[in-house]
Amino acid sequence: MDDVGDVGDVGDVGDVAASGLRRLCASIDLADGGVGVRFMVRRHGKDEPAFVIRHRGHPHAYLNRCAHVPMEMDWQPGEFFDSSGLYLICATHGALYAPDSGRCVSGRCDRRGLVALVVSEQDGQVFLIEEGSERVGYE
Ligand code: FES
Repeated sequence: MDDVGDVGDVGDVGDVAASGLRRLCASIDLADGGVGVRFMVRRHGKDEPAFVIRHRGHPHAYLNRCAHVPMEMDWQPGEFFDSSGLYLICATHGALYAPDSGRCVSGRCDRRGLVALVVSEQDGQVFLIEEGSERVGYE
């Protein structure tokens, strides 16, 4: 078991290491198009749910908040992909998002995207970089 919880669990807000990296999970915990890892992130002084998934070999993380209505998106804890494994889907009304950018692809997200968080992968681990460095996940 890792220190932020099993795949699909919401972990506590952890310490940010002096390097500015916060370990989210082991690389092996993220299968391409598979179950994501939920975690909490502090943003504007408030703890918010977030998640990291793997798509085409790379980890991507977002706030767990649909652009339509600010609700968590997973239909089961950690289940963010649609049945094709190609898109992130909101369980409430079915909005689809591009996994590599958070861009709205279809549905009630109405061209608004997910809020992306910056992650990196090294030495078999996935890290969140500098909490508070989030950016809008679409161009
Ligand atoms: S709350 Fe996500 S599509 Fe409506």
